[in-house]
Amino acid sequence: MRRRSSNIVAFSCMFFILALQAILPISSASLQYGFYDYDYKCKRTNVELLVRGVVAKAIRKDPGVGAGLIRMYFHDCFVRGCDASVLLDPTTANPTPEKTSGANFPSLRGFEVIDQAKAKLERRCPGVVSCADIVAFAARDAALFLGRISYPIPSGRLDGRVSLQSEVLQNLPAPFFSLSQNEAFFANKGMSPEEMVTLSGAHSIGRSHCSSFTNRLYPTEDPTIDRSFAGILKGVCPQNAAVDGVVPQDIVTPNRLSNQYYKNVKAHKVLFTTDQNLMSSSDTAAMVKENARNQTAWKAKFAAAMVKMGNLVELTGPPGEIRKNCRVVN
Ligand code: HEM
Ligand SMILES: *[C@@H]1O[C@H](CO)[C@@H](O)[C@H](O)[C@H]1NC(C)=O
Repeated sequence: MRRRSSNIVAFSCMFFILALQAILPISSASLQYGFYDYDYKCKRTNVELLVRGVVAKAIRKDPGVGAGLIRMYFHDCFVRGCDASVLLDPTTANPTPEKTSGANFPSLRGFEVIDQAKAKLERRCPGVVSCADIVAFAARDAALFLGRISYPIPSGRLDGRVSLQSEVLQNLPAPFFSLSQNEAFFANKGMSPEEMVTLSGAHSIGRSHCSSFTNRLYPTEDPTIDRSFAGILKGVCPQNAAVDGVVPQDIVTPNRLSNQYYKNVKAHKVLFTTDQNLMSSSDTAAMVKENARNQTAWKAKFAAAMVKMGNLVELTGPPGEIRKNCRVVN
C-alpha cells in the first residue's frame, strides 16, 4: 500500500483502511477505492465530488465534452498506462508529446475541464490529486451524465514525466484496422475481444472528423456501409474537401451513451471500419447482438471494462509525481 501523505497517519485510521481494504475488491496493487478520502491534506474536500461538479457543468454547456473525456481516458490509459501523459503540452525540451499525434490532434477535447478541476483541487489541497486520477474520475462522471452508467473507480495513480508522439500509434488502434488487428491492440493491454466490443459502445456519443472514415467512402464505397447512410456522410464529407468536417457518431441519439451503437452496427450505420468489423466474425457479432438486445447487461460490462482500463498503471513510484499543472511536468 502506497501512502502519499507526508503526515503521520494515526493507528486507528490505519486499522480502518486495512479493514476497508479487506471488504473492497482490490483490483490493482497500487490503486484504492476512495484513495483521497484518507489523505490528511484533502480531508475537508470531497475530491471525487468536486471533479463531478466541474464535469457536470461542462457537460451541461456542451455534451460533446463528455465524449471527449471518455476518449481522453482511453487514449491516456493505452499509452504508458493511465498517467496523464496525454495531457502534456509541447515544450522546447519535448516538442512532440502524445498530444501532437494525429490520433489526438486536433480531435481530442476536454482538456479545459481537467484544468478546471485541477485548479480547484490545487486551491483546496495542493500537490495531492494526480491528473491521471482526475482524468479517470472525469470519464466516469461523463458516463454517469451521458449514460446513467455509474461505478466506483479506484485511484492513487501517479502522473508521468514522459510523453512521446511516437508511442501513440503503436498503442492505439486505428479506425481502418481489421478485426484481428484491433483485437491484437486490445490484447496487448490485457483486454479481451469482449471488452473491446463492450468499450466500442462509447461510439454512441460524440463526433468524428471526416478524415477518420473517408477511407470507406472514396474512391470506392465500402460494401459494408448502408447506402443511404453513406450518402449522408458524403454530403458532409465531400472528396478532397478543404476543411475536415465533423459528423455525430450516432445519428439516432448523439448525446446518449447507450446500446444504440450496437443497433447501428447491425444496421451498417457506423463510421469506422473497426466498428463495422465487429460483425465480421461470428463471436464478436454475437456480442454485438446481445448488447443491442440488453442495454442493462451492456452497461454493467461497460462499467467493468472502464474500471479495468483504469488499472493499466505502469508508474507506482518515482519518477511518477503529482503535477501542479496537468499540462506540464513539475
Ligand atoms: C476499438 C478501437 C477504437 C478505434 C479504432 C477508435 C477510433 C476513434 C476515432 C477515429 C474517433 C474519431 C476522432 C475524430 O476524428 O474526431 C473516435 C472517437 C471517439 N472514441 Fe474511439 N476508437 C476506439 C475505441 C474507443 C474506446 C475504447 C473508447 C472509450 C471507451 C472510445 C471513445 C470514443 C469517443 C467517446 C469518441 C468521440 C470523441 C469526441 O466526440 O470528442 N473509442 N474513436
Ligand atoms: C439483461 O441483463 C440483465 C443483467 O445481466 C439480466 O438481469 C436481465 O435478465 C437481462 N434481460 C433480458 C431481457 O435478457
